[in-house]
Amino acid sequence: MPDTPIIVCRDLVRSFDGRAVLDGVNLEVHEGETMVIMGGSGSGKSTLLRLMIGSLRPDSGQITVLGKEICGLAERELNEVRKKFGILFQSGALFNSMTVAENVALPLREHTELGPEIIDIQVKIKLELVGLREHADKYPAQLSGGMKKRAGLARAMALDPRLLFYDEPSAGLDPVTSAQIDQLILDLTRKIGITSVVVTHEMDSAFTIADRMAMLDKGRMVRVESRAWFERLRDLPGAEAKELSEDERLVRQFLRGDAEGPLTERRAATNFEEDLLGLRDVAPSIPSIESTRILGGGGRPMHYGLFGLLRRKQGGGHRVQIRTRAEDAE
Ligand SMILES: Nc1ncnc2c1ncn2[C@@H]1O[C@H](COP(=O)(O)OP(=O)(O)OP(=O)(O)O)[C@@H](O)[C@H]1O
Ligand SMILES: [Mg+2]
Repeated sequence: MPDTPIIVCRDLVRSFDGRAVLDGVNLEVHEGETMVIMGGSGSGKSTLLRLMIGSLRPDSGQITVLGKEICGLAERELNEVRKKFGILFQSGALFNSMTVAENVALPLREHTELGPEIIDIQVKIKLELVGLREHADKYPAQLSGGMKKRAGLARAMALDPRLLFYDEPSAGLDPVTSAQIDQLILDLTRKIGITSVVVTHEMDSAFTIADRMAMLDKGRMVRVESRAWFERLRDLPGAEAKELSEDERLVRQFLRGDAEGPLTERRAATNFEEDLLGLRDVAPSIPSIESTRILGGGGRPMHYGLFGLLRRKQGGGHRVQIRTRAEDAE
């Protein structure tokens, strides 16, 4: 049934080391759709995924997966829910000492009472689906990166899940292999009706597979909309884009990969000294030579790559000053 939520996340907050990595996130995933979660590096995508599969718990908020509120569940009950969904980890997460077929058979051996012949047939079906039937007897070390991903996908599907989670399915793959993975995800959704939640920052892939898309930015869910909505925003002419809200301009910059926009303005406005000292949490940025010329005072020089740092006590606290190496040499 369209629009029936299969996952509901409500007001999720999760901090690491006192820093909110997810800050009141809401998201619903509907039965049969492919939901793409996108956002810059460190925006909290994988953290949100880990909360949804129950490998992390939120500090506050609720998560319902397949009709079960999972946050309060004990590990044993959680494992029952986990049997109903598949997860494709970035590396494929295969066991190196087992063949591809044994890897795919493992969840069936562990979680079902099926006999070896039936398991064998199930494994063949899953390997055929991902185009790896001829490679059933190979070990992971004998597979390419794309083949490992596909083997991981076959294993994620071993128990015929209604729901599949993917973290960066096409990261590190060549364009053709990553297009094949996209096609597999599309086939699974369209032909078998599997619901997919895909974390990615590869925009081509996102626009190929998504029914709806969700944009995270620094732990905040900026927008959840249809793919068509995001396409319109991406393709909006520059003159009209000036009328957009700050959030919409931010999403547009991300989608287009533009060098200028709210994301870069924010980075430029952050204080690089505080960032270096870890006093303030900012997205990683690459310093320009100009921004690092904060000079004056003496101290003990420390060298980090291209740049030298000078540290000086100031009123009991620390202050970092940065020089280029050429200036240090003076
Ligand atoms: N176990 C952890 N302990 C401490 N900090 C963590 C932990 N897991 C994630 N973080 C921090 O949370 C923030 C978000 O991390 P997350 O992995 O969710 O980002 P992401 O959006 O998936 O990024 P990427 O695109 O690089 O994979 C980062 O600043 C990260 O350092
Ligand atoms: Mg991640």
